[in-house]
Amino acid sequence: MIRLERIKRQYGSIAALKDASLTLRPGEFHALLGSNGSGKSTLIKILAGTETPTSGAYEVDGRAVKLRSAGDGRELGIAVAYQDLSLIPSLSVEQNVALALNGATARDGIREARARIAPLLEEINPEIDAGTPVSELAIPERYQVEIVKALAQRPKFLVMDEATAALDGQQVKRVFRLLDSFRDSGLSLLFVSHRMDEVLEFCRRATILREGATVAEADLLHQSREELLTLLSGQEDQEHRDVQRRAPGPVTLQVQGVSALHGRHPVDLTVHAGEIIGLGGLQGQGQREFLRALGLLTPPARGQIFVTSEHLPLKRKSDARRLVFFLSGDRANEGIFPRRPVCENTMAQHMAIGGMLRSLAMKGLRETAASLLQRIGVVGHATQPIETLSGGNQQKALLARLFHAKPAMILLDDPTIGVDPASRRQIHGVLRDMADRGTAIVFFSSDDEELLALADRVIVFYENAVVDELAGDRLNPGEIVRASLHTQRQEGVQ
Ligand SMILES: Nc1ncnc2c1ncn2[C@@H]1O[C@H](COP(=O)(O)OP(=O)(O)OP(=O)(O)O)[C@@H](O)[C@H]1O
Ligand SMILES: [Mg+2]
Repeated sequence: MIRLERIKRQYGSIAALKDASLTLRPGEFHALLGSNGSGKSTLIKILAGTETPTSGAYEVDGRAVKLRSAGDGRELGIAVAYQDLSLIPSLSVEQNVALALNGATARDGIREARARIAPLLEEINPEIDAGTPVSELAIPERYQVEIVKALAQRPKFLVMDEATAALDGQQVKRVFRLLDSFRDSGLSLLFVSHRMDEVLEFCRRATILREGATVAEADLLHQSREELLTLLSGQEDQEHRDVQRRAPGPVTLQVQGVSALHGRHPVDLTVHAGEIIGLGGLQGQGQREFLRALGLLTPPARGQIFVTSEHLPLKRKSDARRLVFFLSGDRANEGIFPRRPVCENTMAQHMAIGGMLRSLAMKGLRETAASLLQRIGVVGHATQPIETLSGGNQQKALLARLFHAKPAMILLDDPTIGVDPASRRQIHGVLRDMADRGTAIVFFSSDDEELLALADRVIVFYENAVVDELAGDRLNPGEIVRASLHTQRQEGVQ
C-alpha cells in the first residue's frame, strides 16, 4: 500500500500542491481527479520519484520512504504512463522499452523488450511494429506505446496520467480490456482522466484534488457523474443545455475533390459561414490529414479549396495563414514554444511551424495575453514558461490565440484534449460565439461526446473516405459509432 500524506510542492512563488493526500491500496483501480492545474501530475511525479515534495510524508506498506529518482520509484514497482510522454522519438518502440527495462539498448535488452511487449501490443494495437521509430507514430499510437512501456516493467503500481486522452472509444476499450486481465494479479492502478464515463466505468474509488489540496475521497460505486463534477469544481455542475444555433449563412468554403495524399478518396464539402463541422470516425481514418490539407499545412495532392470571399482557389500558404486559424493536435511539437513565456505563446499569430514570433512590445503583449488567459480561465502566470503550465492549461493558452484572430475559417485538431469538463464547455462557448459571428469551423475530435456537443454536422471518415454525414436526429452517439464502424458492419465482422 502507498500512502502520501499532506504533500506540499512549491515552485518559487507557485504552490503546485498545498495539502495533498492519497492512499493507493493493493489491487485497486483508483482515480485521481481534479480540474486543470489542480496538481494531479505534480503528485504523480512525487509518487514516481521524479520530483521531491517540499514537505509531507511518503509511506510504503507502513514504512517511511524517500524517493530520490525515478529509479527509486521503479524499485518500489511503480511505473508511469506520462501525460507528456516519456519516449525518445528517434528510438524505436522496442529500444524505448529496453531503455526503461535496463537503462540500455544492447541487443539482449532489445530481445527481452520485444518478448515482453509483443503480447501487450497485440492487445492494444497489433498494427504497431515494435521496430518503428516513435517519431513515425501518430499521436494516439505514441500513447499506446507509453502504456505498453509502463506495463512492460511489470509494475505493482501502474499510473496512467491522461494516457487515454488522445485515444478514441474503441482504443480505450482495448486498453481497459488489457488492464482488466491484470486485476486478478494484484495490480494497482492510479488513473487520471477528464472523461468521467471512463472513470466511472473503470475505477471504484477516487481522490479529488482542488487547487493543490485533497478535498475528498469518493466511493465511485455510489456516485453519479453530476455529483462527481460538483465535487471537482466545488460548484453545482452547469449541465450543458441544447444551444440554439443560428441558421448558417452563405457558403464560406467549397472543397472540391480534395485528397490529402495521392491515392486517397477525394472529398467534397461545402461549409457555410457560422457552421461547425465535426470530423468523426475511428482514429487514423484520414481526418487529420484532411484537416491539414484544408489549411495547406500539407498541400492537398488533388482538388481545390475555395474560400468564397477570396474568389480564388486557396493555393498559397501565406493566404492560408491569413485566412485560416489552425490548431495542431501535436501540442508538444507543433503547438507550443516550450521555453517561451505563456504570453508569447498565446500571442503568436497562427501556428507557423518553426516560424518567428511577431515582435510586439513586451509590456503590451503581457497585458493583452494576461486578459485573454483570464477570459479562458488559464491557471498560471503570463510570464512563466509554457512548459511549466499543466497540460490542460497549455492547451487553453493555445486556444486563447483564437481571441485575437479573425479568420474566415478555424481548423482544430482535437481542440480540448486534456481540458477539464468545465473549461471544455467554456471553450465550446467561445467557438460557438465565433461561429455566430460568421467564422466557419472544422474540427476533428477523438471524443464522440465532443462531436455531439459542438458540431452542427459530423462527417464520418472510414479508411480515408467520407462514409456518412450525420445531422439533426441522426446526430447521436449510436449513429456515430455505427457510422464509424461502417465497413466492418457491412462485412459482418462486427
Ligand atoms: N515546474 C513548474 N514551475 C512552475 N509551476 C509549475 C511547475 N510544475 C507545475 N506547476 C504548476 O503547478 C500547478 C499544478 O500543475 P499540474 O501539472 O500538477 O496540474 P494537473 O492537475 O496535472 O493539470 P492538468 O489536468 O491540466 O494536467 C499548475 O498551476 C502548474 O502551472
Ligand atoms: Mg496533468
